[in-house]
Amino acid sequence: MSDVIRAVGLVKTYGEIHALDGLDLAVPEGTVTALLGPNGAGKTTAVRILATVLDADDGFAEVAGIDVRKDPNAVRSRIGLSGQFAAVDEYLTGYENLDMVGQLYGLRRRPSRDRARELLDTFGLADAADRPVKTYSGGMRRRLDLAGALVAHPPVLFLDEPTTGLDPRSRTDLWEVINELVKAGSTLLLTTQYLEEADRLADDIVVIDHGKAIAQGTADQLKGRVGGERVEIVVAADADLAAARTLLQELAGGEVVVDEHTRRLTAPVSGGAGVLMEALRRLDALGIAVIDIALRRPTLEDVFLTLTGHSTDEDGALPGTGARTER
Ligand SMILES: Nc1ncnc2c1ncn2[C@@H]1O[C@H](COP(=O)(O)OP(=O)(O)OP(=O)(O)O)[C@@H](O)[C@H]1O
Ligand SMILES: [Mg+2]
Repeated sequence: MSDVIRAVGLVKTYGEIHALDGLDLAVPEGTVTALLGPNGAGKTTAVRILATVLDADDGFAEVAGIDVRKDPNAVRSRIGLSGQFAAVDEYLTGYENLDMVGQLYGLRRRPSRDRARELLDTFGLADAADRPVKTYSGGMRRRLDLAGALVAHPPVLFLDEPTTGLDPRSRTDLWEVINELVKAGSTLLLTTQYLEEADRLADDIVVIDHGKAIAQGTADQLKGRVGGERVEIVVAADADLAAARTLLQELAGGEVVVDEHTRRLTAPVSGGAGVLMEALRRLDALGIAVIDIALRRPTLEDVFLTLTGHSTDEDGALPGTGARTER
């Protein structure tokens, strides 16, 4: 399988800021790679360089075997790009926007119109097709922009944070659309701050931080780097923390991390639900009231923390990362 998107040592600086600091990337044909990183990691910069919107200061990039610097026009004819911020004309209708893109790509009148209607259907915008985009919600604009990237059936797609700002339902819908595209053979590089999104869509995940790839692998491989399952218990009373800790230590064998502030205890376990049941039984026997008990599989947030020593939400960008330090 050949690499349809390939970057070697990409560098881009803005004064003191190293937006990209030697980024390497390879996306095999027909696969999905997610560039996963927090705000300012360099995701948009990388996509813009690969999509020929921006020149790199150093390094090499090719798309569909074409050097992005030497022949940007040839690259452009093979890619679809949906940027982080929807680029749609406010005063045209959704339909007119897509038809315009079709004509820009040189589609004939009829095929361009048909394609516009087809995409409006796919993206759940058929009812709003003939309304000016300025009446659209943020999520509708987002979907229209994505549809625009697909007008010309490009074999290579770049989607920069495709579902940021969408509600959970629209996000799941969009994941389905994207999965269909990939099944149809597209090669896709997407960026995301949503770890779940990378998990759901990507064959391969490149974790990017400060303009560099700091890890690469499948979601499972990355999760494997932080170890297996953990049991989490929140006890009702401060006075029970010590006893609960002793109990967990016996059950889990590994290190128990105690957050006294939230009265949460966490420990690595093997044995899954059985361990959970046993913990509950023993807690009950000791008369320890429990507010919450759960078996937690490592998330990609945990991976990020393990890899970088800092959480992904330093800019408040990611929900659910917390400042947890349990390993
Ligand atoms: N035109 C510019 N001028 C100055 N600095 C820039 C410019 N574009 C990007 N940067 C800086 O380069 C770094 C990488 O930016 P980039 O937009 O690629 O990050 P990102 O990963 O896409 O972040 P986000 O998740 O917020 O979209 C940031 O520190 C950003 O401030
Ligand atoms: Mg960005």
